[in-house]
Amino acid sequence: WKTLDDMDLQGKRVLVRVDINVPVLEGAVTDDTRIQRIVPTVRDILAAGGKPILLAHFGRPGGERRQNLSLKQLVPTLEAAFGTKVRFGEDCVGYEAEIAAANQGDGEVLLLENTRFHAEETQNSMTLAEGMAKMGDIYCNDAFSAAHRAHSSTEALARLLPSCAGRLMQAELSALEAALGNPQRPVTAVVGGAKVSTKLDLLGNLIEKVDNLIIGGGMANTFLLAKGLDVGKSLAEHAMTDTAAEIMAKADEAGCRIVLPSDVVVAEKFEAHAPHKVVPANQCPAESMILDAGPDSVAAICNIFEQSKTLIWNGPLGAFELEPFDAATNAAALKAAELTRAGKLVSVAGGGDTVAALNASGAAQDFTYISTAGGAFLEWMEGKTLPGVAALAQ
Ligand code: 3PG
Repeated sequence: WKTLDDMDLQGKRVLVRVDINVPVLEGAVTDDTRIQRIVPTVRDILAAGGKPILLAHFGRPGGERRQNLSLKQLVPTLEAAFGTKVRFGEDCVGYEAEIAAANQGDGEVLLLENTRFHAEETQNSMTLAEGMAKMGDIYCNDAFSAAHRAHSSTEALARLLPSCAGRLMQAELSALEAALGNPQRPVTAVVGGAKVSTKLDLLGNLIEKVDNLIIGGGMANTFLLAKGLDVGKSLAEHAMTDTAAEIMAKADEAGCRIVLPSDVVVAEKFEAHAPHKVVPANQCPAESMILDAGPDSVAAICNIFEQSKTLIWNGPLGAFELEPFDAATNAAALKAAELTRAGKLVSVAGGGDTVAALNASGAAQDFTYISTAGGAFLEWMEGKTLPGVAALAQ
């Protein structure tokens, strides 16, 4: 696909699909990472004499015009990030949008209203995309984190205008390519999260590609069960134990080492600071639940990191949202950060929970790359084609 460098932007109206689906609490943006990460694209278009017109979704309004999901509330945050005026168009197509585009001055950014206020957006309607295309000369997709959606503004529109990838899209794709496409070996993946059933495709793809697969969080309990261990009252999917056993057998054949906790932190209550103790993984008391990996497991994980050249991380190792059950995730994350700082490891992480956990541990800033994507990061790791990326390559 093309990048902004391949396009003549002087005097051109550039429809830029961004993902500014950021968390907002009582009108205030609580994490502006996604906004900060689109700044290079917007600045480069402005610097080259182009006019950026931003298209984005916000939440899931289901085709209804919902005031609390209006993108207007993000204008001050965007102005602060871009350091320039952001004009707002009350719709993403039609009269309101076209008037706003006609009034856009040089050096200004235009933000159009939530694309999902139109039900056709999520149906990948060509008619809606044609309405959008009217306002632009060039299409630039900078929304990697929405590229797993085949929607009018992420897919159909790319087929109507000369198209290119934005800076964030480029950065995301090259970081992921470095981690899984053509990585330095050994490659280690950390996969955590509650359920095996939601990450089957991911596990299946990773065992073919990585040397070590460290499994954490609730899904590790299902694997422990599959090995015949008693996990007491732990979160686990009893119906998935055969599947977990199959995954372990396939990993063995593929030469991928699956790493499960050897010791665990157990408590009787799922709450912060619940009384807890460390036990071997095969001695979880019947009344207890596993809430984190234990110190021996963390030492083993850190040791694997030391022997790895590439790390890809999705999902926390324990119930990281409850102190002190974030300890294993924090310790492993800090080790990965230290090795990355020392130039010994390429580390890539993605997914909403994962990035929150890595930020909380203070490790995120030293990772080689932190993806802005949740679902799209997972689908990429699963080896799936992302429609928004595929459309750029046409
Ligand atoms: C995200 O927040 O992961 C993206 O913006 C995609 O949002 P969606 O899951 O509502 O399509």
